[in-house]
Amino acid sequence: MSKRKILVTSALPYANGSIHLGHLVEYIQTDIWVRFQKMQGHEVYYVCADDTHGTPIMLRAEKEGITPEALIVRVQKEHERDFAGFHVEFDNYYTTHSPETRHYSEDIYGKLKTAGLITSRAVEQFYDPVKQMFLPDRFIKGECPKCGAKDQYGDNCEACGAAYAPTDLKNPYSAVSGAVPIKKASEHFFFKLSDSRCVDFLRAWTTSGTLQTEAANKMREWLGEADENKLSDWDISRDAPYFGFEIPDAPGKYFYVWLDAPVGYMGSFRKLCDDKGIDFDEFWRKDSTAELYHFIGKDILYFHALFWPAMLENAGYRTPTNIYAHGFLTVNGEKMSKSRGTFITAESYLQQGLNPEWLRYYYAAKLNATMEDIDLNLEDFTARVNSDLVGKYVNIASRCLGFITKRFNGKLGKMTDGDIGWLRQVKGQELPESFNAAWTRPEIEVAASAVSRSLSAKDKKEISNDESVVIASRKTIEQLYDNREFGKATRAIMQLVDTANVYVDREKPWELANDPAKSQRLHEVCTTAINMFRALTIFLKPVLPATAEKIEQLLNTPKLDWSHLETDFHENHEINPYSHLITRIDPKQIAALVEVSTASLKPTAPQPHSQQRHAQHQENIVETTTQPATISIDNFSKIDLRVARIVNAELVEGADKLLKLTLDIGTEQRTVFAGIKSAYDPEKLKGRLTVMVANLAPRKMKFGLSEGMVLAAGDGNGLYLLGPDEGAQPGMRIK
Ligand code: 2FM
Ligand code: ZN
Repeated sequence: MSKRKILVTSALPYANGSIHLGHLVEYIQTDIWVRFQKMQGHEVYYVCADDTHGTPIMLRAEKEGITPEALIVRVQKEHERDFAGFHVEFDNYYTTHSPETRHYSEDIYGKLKTAGLITSRAVEQFYDPVKQMFLPDRFIKGECPKCGAKDQYGDNCEACGAAYAPTDLKNPYSAVSGAVPIKKASEHFFFKLSDSRCVDFLRAWTTSGTLQTEAANKMREWLGEADENKLSDWDISRDAPYFGFEIPDAPGKYFYVWLDAPVGYMGSFRKLCDDKGIDFDEFWRKDSTAELYHFIGKDILYFHALFWPAMLENAGYRTPTNIYAHGFLTVNGEKMSKSRGTFITAESYLQQGLNPEWLRYYYAAKLNATMEDIDLNLEDFTARVNSDLVGKYVNIASRCLGFITKRFNGKLGKMTDGDIGWLRQVKGQELPESFNAAWTRPEIEVAASAVSRSLSAKDKKEISNDESVVIASRKTIEQLYDNREFGKATRAIMQLVDTANVYVDREKPWELANDPAKSQRLHEVCTTAINMFRALTIFLKPVLPATAEKIEQLLNTPKLDWSHLETDFHENHEINPYSHLITRIDPKQIAALVEVSTASLKPTAPQPHSQQRHAQHQENIVETTTQPATISIDNFSKIDLRVARIVNAELVEGADKLLKLTLDIGTEQRTVFAGIKSAYDPEKLKGRLTVMVANLAPRKMKFGLSEGMVLAAGDGNGLYLLGPDEGAQPGMRIK
């Protein structure tokens, strides 16, 4: 097999939001694919970065009273922590706010300009006269032109779903300052996507046959028929104030965030090359034979399949080998939702103590190579993980490993020819003719399997759920991984796991162990089972890297890769005592996760979901935390503020800043962990009245559940708990 050179990317997450389970579909998908390719011995690099530029990030920083630079450094740390928590292993994780990305942005822009592919013209846009800035659509709000709903964004109505231009809104106001926006013209730069050099190239690229069918269809739709040109030039500049790269020779004009975002792939890889002495040009020059793959969500196909390849092609770089777009995530069949508690962040999943490999396995079991959405059904998640991973896979080891330790000093023994026949089946290998069919798994007619094991068209088409039809083979599994058909790959692997369990069930080591005369057989059976377990671990390692690592230690073997399927442990190989590998999911853990993820303020309409937005409105992504200068009385009244009596206050062991408060709000008592230790002696708080937010979602903290929040004033120097005037009673509503 020849060694391939492969560069892989996942979409760059925005630097103003948290990683959630929707994002993780993509990073886990990419990571599994990359790990599989690395295990084949190819030269593979997986790079990513935070997408740091644009208006929302600039305003978010301003709101927090920090510089955008400080904000993006902090968020990048959080993102890296979350990815590492889910074992997503980048060769480099970087930022688009880097000298490398600036260099390639300017370089590509300069080359496009020299080629006559940059043009400029005046554009009229909404402008905030108070804030003195142009407003992206998402920052203009007003009444829906169709249904009249108030406080709707400038691109679509969350009440009735209508899509419109911001200029259609009635009584528009700036979500930044509250001011009435005015229309103002300014000079913008455009990339001439409508130029025949772009159109002709994109037509050829689309039909070159490698794109996913749905992606190719989409592109045909965007490009139109051969005699029409549906592409318009792309606006690539924004006016100051803007957080981004200033365009050379154009003071006050910045590259639009989507211009430099994909260039961030190059920037991150360039940094890796400089750090590790890799030849950058070998991967990016026009005639490069290295492969380049972008894993993305289907909502950003437009950027990756039109703008990006056209930019690269005309700036003298290679174009992507392929773009792999996936669908969106639904949870329990619906869009992720804060009010239903299914908008789950990576951080809260991990903080609740859930095993990241549960999710990796479940996503793998659901993923395929299309753009179909995938559903995380929480009940099915629990059932599938418990049954496949704990009930079937780990069960092989837990039933056999202990005997090797207890009875044979941790040393493996021999295997009989019959055992080897079974082992070969579990490895998905072809059986030599000389193997006696009686040694093989009878219920799936292994005699015939040697034929079906070579990769037939049928194998490629489908691994059936029906076990009696197709027998999984190593080749099939490899092909399925390579084609991103992870659902089928895991099903095929589970067939092999089943075969191993059939073997153990048939040989019954626990019975052999009761009969001293059968000690040798016990040794053979456990040795065979452990070799089976090792092979299955290799198959599952791209999905379960941390478990595989534990097993490597347990089995006392160096890092397993694909080539280890060709060998077995030799006699007398010594293993370590069994320790637990993967625990079962307790449904209570899932309930607790949903509970802490449930927001108390029910949104009137589905939340804008950073993964599920319309491609035209990329610029407008804004975290729901961004507030206009004013809020309606309706919004204010959603906050349930109550007078509360502090009936108990105590120190919290191990917490530097917290006090544990017990608050009486008339009808019930609540526990709240408040960060006021620096300002108050707990004894002096007892009996005092204060103000609490009574409908804040409960938050699981390291020290227990916090069921609300007390209000205090502070400016970083002092901290002052609020208290009502005399006469107020616990439970009184604050209005
Ligand atoms: O849609 C998003 O979340 C973008 N931040 C993705 C950018 S991908 C690449 F082009 F950088
Ligand atoms: Zn409407």
